Amino acid sequence: MTERAGQATDLSGRVVIVTGAAQGMGAATAELLIARGAQVLLGDVQADKVAATAAQLGEAAHPVHLDVADEEHWAGAVAEAQDRFGRVDALINNAGTLQFSTVDGLGTEAARRLLEINLLGPMLGAKHVAPLMRAAGRGVIVNVSSVDGLRGVGGLSAYTASKWGLRGLTKTQALELGPDGIRVCSVHPGGVDTVLGNPLGRTGEELQAPFRQVPLRRIGEPDEIAEVTAFLISDAASYVSGAEIAVDGGWSAGTYYPGLPGAPD
Ligand SMILES: NC(=O)c1ccc[n+]([C@@H]2O[C@H](COP(=O)([O-])OP(=O)(O)OC[C@H]3O[C@@H](n4cnc5c(N)ncnc54)[C@H](O)[C@@H]3O)[C@@H](O)[C@H]2O)c1
Repeated sequence: MTERAGQATDLSGRVVIVTGAAQGMGAATAELLIARGAQVLLGDVQADKVAATAAQLGEAAHPVHLDVADEEHWAGAVAEAQDRFGRVDALINNAGTLQFSTVDGLGTEAARRLLEINLLGPMLGAKHVAPLMRAAGRGVIVNVSSVDGLRGVGGLSAYTASKWGLRGLTKTQALELGPDGIRVCSVHPGGVDTVLGNPLGRTGEELQAPFRQVPLRRIGEPDEIAEVTAFLISDAASYVSGAEIAVDGGWSAGTYYPGLPGAPD
């Protein structure tokens, strides 16, 4: 039996920063990591909402007012982790925003803000946690990209560019930080039932219908993505770095030809 057997996905005592944790996938991730034993700093630009979410999750949840596009906020969040726990074991760059934009109809300011949140944010996060992780000789960063970071999507130019950028950033961070014992991976969710993925709050068949083209024939749930993130920051993934993990029900696997096996009716 190896030393890791039986406890590899245990996160007891790990200190983790999760961004965009007031709701959706970030909140679900914080909840799961806490259930596995972690102390979690929940960062979000929605200060009241993240405080309420943290209160629901109990004593291992610590809300932080964090706009990921603001470098001073990052310095404050990481200082808080350092003061409280003396370290940061993992960073989950989950905060993100989506806007519909075409080639012609791009709103410049909105696109700039999206890129600041989805792409500059994870760059700043890595910049601020890396010194602590380097000093500890270990750490993990998970960048939450998207299935839209694996293929193009008509009507989502800025979002798709940001998620491809995050995928590329992950590779670069893995190369730079690996020698210091820091692993960096990207997770690529498909459709997930959150405010971002289901803005009209649809339910039942109305919600599922657009996802009948996905091999698993349904939308994903936030905790299904959180499970993969929990694995990636655990010791079970100790030799995984620079990897991109699709958690998309098979959506990015390819396409169907009408009439051939698996094609939707
Ligand atoms: N839901 C999906 O279908 C889906 C699919 C693929 C990828 N993703 C990605 O997953 C991540 C989480 O999305 P979600 O579906 O939970 O969305 P969501 O809208 O429910 O939650 C996003 C959270 O990020 C926070 N946030 C936004 N801007 C921020 C900023 N500047 N600083 C800090 N926090 C900020 C919001 O306040 C919110 O709490 C995003 O990066 C998103 O792009 C979502």
